Amino acid sequence: MDYNKIDIKTIPTNEMGSLSFFEGESDIPFQIKRIYFIHGVPKGTQRGGHAHKQLQQILFCPFGKIEILLDNGKKKESFFLDEPNKGLIIGNGIWREMIWHNSNSVLCVAASEYYDESDYIRNYDDFLKMVKVGI
Ligand code: TYD
Repeated sequence: MDYNKIDIKTIPTNEMGSLSFFEGESDIPFQIKRIYFIHGVPKGTQRGGHAHKQLQQILFCPFGKIEILLDNGKKKESFFLDEPNKGLIIGNGIWREMIWHNSNSVLCVAASEYYDESDYIRNYDDFLKMVKVGI
């Protein structure tokens, strides 16, 4: 499955907290064209439920605990984003669901492309059909 867990580079600054960062094309395998973040989400909420034809993304959770379920049509895996320095890079052609385990957890995403609704596959049966012929 086309995903990669990374440790986001983090500089500890002692009692003043920590600073984490990544750069497009060097720390992650694409140029960043878009940043978005999802916030104000109640505990237990499930979001996502789609795949992308081309888009690559890195997901990270600077505050809280979010479970990420990935499915390439053949295999399913799940991960917790529960530390600010954990990142999950997701390639194209992967169905994802996100479950908020703590209220107000923040999901941040850096994406390889501008928003384009035509890049989404929002129907799971369509996704499975596309996996068979190649996304
Ligand atoms: P969506 O990607 O479906 O959210 P999630 O998978 O987290 O549940 O996006 C929710 C809405 O926001 C949908 O109407 C599309 C819109 N949207 C934008 O306009 N720009 C963006 O960059 C993103 C990610 C979503």
